[in-house]
Parts: sequence; structure tokens; C-alpha cells
Amino acid sequence: MAPVSSLASTVDQRIADALSAALPKAGSAAPLLRRSDRADFQANGILALAKQLKGNPRELASQVVSKVAAGDVIKEIEVSGPGFLNITLTDRAIIETLAARAADTRLGVPYAEQPGTTVIDYAQPNVAKEMHVGHLRSAVIGAAMVEILEFTGEKVIRRHHIGDWGTQFGMLIQYLIEHPHELDHRSGGDHGGQGGPSSDAVGTDAGAAADGETAMSNLDRLYKASRALFDSDEEFKDRSRDRVVALQAGDEETLAFWQKFVDESKIYFYSVFDKLDMEIHDADIVGESGYNHMLEETCRILEETGVAVRSEGALCVFFDDVKGPDGKQVPLIVKKSNGGYGYAATDLSAIRDRVRNLDATALLYVVDVRQSLHFKMVFETARRAGWLDERVHAFQLAFGTVLGKDGKPFKTRGGETVRLQDLLDEAVERATAVVREKAEKAGLSEREIVENGRYVGIGAVKYADLSTSAVRDYKFDLDQMVSLNGDTSVYLQYAYARIKSILRKAGDTGPAAHPELELAPAERALGLHVDEFGQVLAEVSSSYEPHKLAAYLYQLASHFTTFYDQCPVLKADTPAQVENRLFLCDLTARTLQQGLALLGIRAPERL
Ligand code: ARG
Repeated sequence: MAPVSSLASTVDQRIADALSAALPKAGSAAPLLRRSDRADFQANGILALAKQLKGNPRELASQVVSKVAAGDVIKEIEVSGPGFLNITLTDRAIIETLAARAADTRLGVPYAEQPGTTVIDYAQPNVAKEMHVGHLRSAVIGAAMVEILEFTGEKVIRRHHIGDWGTQFGMLIQYLIEHPHELDHRSGGDHGGQGGPSSDAVGTDAGAAADGETAMSNLDRLYKASRALFDSDEEFKDRSRDRVVALQAGDEETLAFWQKFVDESKIYFYSVFDKLDMEIHDADIVGESGYNHMLEETCRILEETGVAVRSEGALCVFFDDVKGPDGKQVPLIVKKSNGGYGYAATDLSAIRDRVRNLDATALLYVVDVRQSLHFKMVFETARRAGWLDERVHAFQLAFGTVLGKDGKPFKTRGGETVRLQDLLDEAVERATAVVREKAEKAGLSEREIVENGRYVGIGAVKYADLSTSAVRDYKFDLDQMVSLNGDTSVYLQYAYARIKSILRKAGDTGPAAHPELELAPAERALGLHVDEFGQVLAEVSSSYEPHKLAAYLYQLASHFTTFYDQCPVLKADTPAQVENRLFLCDLTARTLQQGLALLGIRAPERL
């Protein structure tokens, strides 16, 4: 079906037409429309135009007004203040536009005009290491961006750039070779074959969670044991170093042991992603090791083209504006003096692969803001080498630190990093308590309480992460996250469930649009807000700011709350009004559900 043009764009077009009719000299001046409290919309563009034409803004504004065709869409237009236009729409235009949205499964949201291919680098934990809250942020923000971009028609390629390579593997592998039974407790647990009716529900796979915990505790034990040996036994240290060389040379036995660490870690990663109600696929896990075969060439090209130079034995790239506290330039090291390749060589090779082989038009990195300098230098190096040009938009969606209630980086009381599973379990536990308290009234079964507890708990964690601008630090405060009032996912989920309950109570009376009816102020405000969904998505997908979608949904739920307070639905004055209000309810619910789904948050039908 044809995309629905939003009320804002319809009005914008009308004003633009009036502008060029009244002032042919104005060229293609923009009306600069925005939502307003005084009227439905306000156009501010005439002020700038008046300056440009050296005219009186109020006069110009009234000339424009005289050219606006009032009637079907625009009910009233008047000059206000120094030369603004205040615009009020007809009730009919609002309901008719919404009815067109309701007729479409995409809610009338248009596809992007020129979709491209975005390679998104997110959810990238490290092999043989516990995941931390930073990995949570990357996964949650990244997954939301994937959904939002795909919804606008963008082709999205996921890349989980896991840390699966490096010198620490020499020590781990050597230890395992010398203690071969340490990981032999089970034969491979291939992910993705769980199936079954409950496989799409959050964390219902208790087996996966248990396997994940076992995997992590094995890895942790191995790590500690090998570390202890490495620090105390010089000969083991030497053997470990030789092992790194064997690993880098591609020795088969060594690689087989390395693979065991990767496989064991994946069991753990998948268990956490499962808990997060997030789908991650094996084919998209292309970690640092996936670029091994390119590293040498990457460095050779950089050296041959003079982009990188030798400095103190290392291969380095220098930048005029990147200096240390001593005023000396700090280089990006692509190859260390001992011949080892670092993080930068891998990322540069990944850029080559993503642009050349995956045809990316955008590279999006959802990575901690503390790695911003790294990405700045990596992007700049790639530009100098010609691997990135103006056809490819490289962008780090940088996120801040997760803080504890005390405002300090999130740690346990003992000062250790908090285990991600514990955190998620606690969120679900708290949420289940909240759900249980209200459950009796909603008539929920025990099964529903448990399921909803997961949706609400995991939703709360995701929403808290997504509802503030990513680059800001945020406080991980479970009490606040599962609160029923305020800017929380629970509030949104309850709004959705309330609407669903109204629709159920309506019985045989279904939602139906009645453009002939006069609307109450709260109905208009709700309707105008629903209509903005597509614009918000377009904005979020180009600015990579999912918090703006969260904010939109929160406002939507608030508009609904006001509407519900002021406008009886099932007890409205006439049958037509009942149907029209049910129509507004239904469209609000669908918009909420779609928006939450894009953020990775489920909306239970009953709560
Ligand atoms: N594994 C890294 C970490 O835990 C994040 C990887 C980010 N992606 C990248 N292409 N460098 O910090």
C-alpha cells in the first residue's frame, strides 16, 4: 500500500505552496513546521525569509495566509507574534489520516527513500571472559538499531566482533594441553537447535542458562589456574609464549584447542543473549580472528603507501591532533615491534572487508565511548589509505558507562564487576514481584506471572539503557527501572495492556474511524502524536539515537493516559463515538507495540 503522508508533511506542503504563490522570489524557502501548544502546528520559516527579502515578517506572513487553501485539512491559520503562523487542523483530516495508517500493517510508515547497506558492529564480548554491563549496552543499543534500520528498509548486516584472539590464548591453550580433561565434561552443545514451542520466549530455556553458567565457571577456573601457573612458573611462561607463536602460525593442534575456548565461550554468550531475549546467530559472529588472513596485507599496504611508518620498531600511523600529555604525538600502532598485530590492524582489516566484500554504505560501531580515540584514528587511517571515502558513512555510536546507585562505575560491594546474569536475574525477580502484586486484579495464571515477570524485567533493563542518550552515563537502579510510574518500560507495557483490556471489554463493538465526529482536545493530542511515528523513526534511523524513539513512546503512553482520564471510551455519548475512541485506542496500542518491539521489548496482552 502507498505510504501515508503524515499530517505534518501535508501541512508543510500546503504552506510551502502558499509561500511560493505569495512570494515567488522566496525560492524554495522552508515553512519550518513544528508541533505547538498554542495550535496544532507553528511555522517559523517566515522570519528568516523576511530577513532575506528585507520585508516585514508579519506582512509577509499575512500574504502567505491569504494563499492558504483553508477547509479540508487546515481549519484555521493565523499570524502570531513577530511573524509565526499558527495552524489548526480539521478533526476530519486527523481521523482520515489515522484511518489510512490503521489500514496498513506498517502503520503507514514509509520506507527510506534511498536505503543502503549498514554493517553494524555490536554485541562483541570477549572469549574466555565474563561479560560485563558494557557488553550489555552494546547488545541492547545495537539490537534496537538493527530493528529500526531494517524497519525503514535498510539492508543490515550484523557483525559481532568478539575478542577471540590475542596473546592471552597462548597461556590458556598451553594450560589446557597440559590438563586435557579440564574442558572434556560434555560433547558440543550446538546452538540454535533448541526449537520447541517455548523457544521464542525469554529465558524459558533453563537448560541453556545452566549450561552457560557451567561454561563460564569452567573458563573462569581455567583462566585463574593458567594465570597462576604463568605467574609462578618460568618454564610454563616460555611454553605459553611459544604457544602464541604456534597459534599465529596456524598450527592445527593449537587451533583445535583455541576452538574449544571459543565454543565454550559461545555457549556462555548465547545463554546471556537468550536471557536478554535477543537473537544472535553464529554466522554473524566474526571475531577478531576472522580477519587474520588480511592483517599482513593491511599492514603492507599501509607501509607501502606511506600511511604508516616505522617508529621504534613498530608500524605506526601519526595524527597532528593526537598528542599525549607530554605534547608528543601518540600513534595508532598497527604492528608491534615484536611482530604482533593489535586491535587496530584487525579493525582496519574489518573495514576493508565490510566495504569491499559486504558493500557497506554505512559502518556503525556500537562501542564504549572510551574507545572513541581508537575509532577516530582507525577511521582516519582508513580514509588516508582510500578504504573509506565519502560514499561510506563510518560512525561510532558511542555509549557511556553504567554507574551504580552511588554514581560510581557499577561494582559489587566487594568491588568486583557485577556478573551480567546475576543482574538480569535480579531484574526479573523484582519485576515478577511487581507483576504478582497486580496479577490478581488482572486474573493472571502463575504461568503468565512468570512469563510477564521476564518480559517486564528484561524490558526494564533494556529500556533504562535505551531511554537516555547513549553517550551519557546512566545509573543502574532496579527500583527505579521497575517502577510503575515515570519513564519506564513497565509504564509503557501497562498502557498497552490497559488498552488491550478495553478492547476485550468492548466485546462485539470494534474499532472504527468516524471522520465526521468532533474531537475532544485529548483525542486530537493523542491522534497528532500517533501520526508522528514515521517521522520519529526516520529521524532515529539517520541520527542513530534510539532514545528518541523511547521518548516518543513514553509521550505516547502519557497522551493515552490523559485521553483515558478525560474521554470515556466504552461509556462515550454515542455508538459512533465509542467506535471512534476504540479506533484511537487500537491504533495507539499497535503503535506502542511496534515501537517497543523495535526496542527489543515485549508487550504482554494482559498484565
Ligand atoms: N571486544 C571489545 C570489547 O570488549 C569490543 C569490540 C568492539 N568492536 C570493534 N570492532 N572493535 O571492548
